[in-house]
Amino acid sequence: MKPLARRTDNLVQSNIRAVTILLNQTGGINLGQGICDMPTPDPIKRGAHEAIDSDRSVYSYYGGIDRLRESLLRKGREYNDIPLSSTNNIMVTVGSTGAFVTAIFSLLNPGDEIIIFEPFYGYHVNLLQVMGAKLIIIPGTPPDWQVDFDALRAAVTDKTKAILLNTPGNPSGKVWSRADLETLLEILQKHDLYAITDEIYEYMVYDGRTHVSLASLPGAFERTITLSGFSKTYNMTGWRLGYAMGPTRIIEKMGLLADLIYICAPTPLQHGVAEAFDMDASYFEELSQAYADRRELLCKTLENIGFEFSWPEGSYYVLANFEKLASRYPGFNDDDEALRTLVTRAKVGAVAGSSFFTRPKDGRYYLRFCFAKEISVLEQACMDLRAAFA
Ligand SMILES: Cc1ncc(COP(=O)(O)O)c(C=O)c1O
Repeated sequence: MKPLARRTDNLVQSNIRAVTILLNQTGGINLGQGICDMPTPDPIKRGAHEAIDSDRSVYSYYGGIDRLRESLLRKGREYNDIPLSSTNNIMVTVGSTGAFVTAIFSLLNPGDEIIIFEPFYGYHVNLLQVMGAKLIIIPGTPPDWQVDFDALRAAVTDKTKAILLNTPGNPSGKVWSRADLETLLEILQKHDLYAITDEIYEYMVYDGRTHVSLASLPGAFERTITLSGFSKTYNMTGWRLGYAMGPTRIIEKMGLLADLIYICAPTPLQHGVAEAFDMDASYFEELSQAYADRRELLCKTLENIGFEFSWPEGSYYVLANFEKLASRYPGFNDDDEALRTLVTRAKVGAVAGSSFFTRPKDGRYYLRFCFAKEISVLEQACMDLRAAFA
């Protein structure tokens, strides 16, 4: 038969799934996949039930229901400090992933260069490759994955159209400081570039840090698309609800693309999540404390065993280096082997580091652990790790 489209040639199932299958066989705790197993807040669930029961079942406007866009307008202005003029700067999407797809298809022509930072979130890279963009990778500097701004400046060419960042970062845990963002903005302005900023972990920042949105910096808004979503903040990854904020001329095109691809985000679920904005603001403090506790538990355990890393500044991942363990235990020669060793000896799953780097050898001594777990489950995983390796 005739071959499938060439753009699918490099698409393969990620090894995250392979670990899930292995763990299903052995039984154990998966600290690999970035999904939170804590419950979705009740007001959101009730809101969706009520919308379904009252037949709010028809397509919404492609940019989302008015009530949700109004709430996002307030949130974008107050929490992110982004100079949004109206709901025309907001669109509700099928996950922040839906927003990302429409952003790259609206901004980039095949062959345009986009700069991204390593270690990266695999979906960003894979989607950019599928759409035909040329990726320019800037390696971060371990252990805290600082950005090498000289390398960034040197990487910009006439073909560069945009820079993609993710703060707080998956898998790096890096939180871009205001100073980092100011330096980035100078580069964007000097070369007339766009920025796409994925801020899905914006409420998970530690040690008194604050999340700063690039689009809040004077002069940044007109060239920045800010992406975020509800998956992580409200433990509802499967609801598939996210959003984008940006200049009207870009958001309009993204909305028209979203309309073509999936028409709108599921209407009753949009009504459900709109209830989130009436919840007490203490929700965010509790969320951030809950993750800070989990970060401490996992980081201390991994350090105790001999992993080396900088504690994440934000998000809910630890990208840990196990090179030292390789001299103490068998089965730690590379990330795939280390994964299997962890599953077999401690019944704990993680993600192989090479999936976050273009050259697999750069991630060879890393594993990524996710601490978005019910505390009892995380405690068990940490006990199992200590028992197996300490
Ligand atoms: C950096 C980053 N962006 C986006 C997503 C996906 O978000 P959504 O569920 O809103 O599509 C994830 C999920 O792991 C992520 O880590």
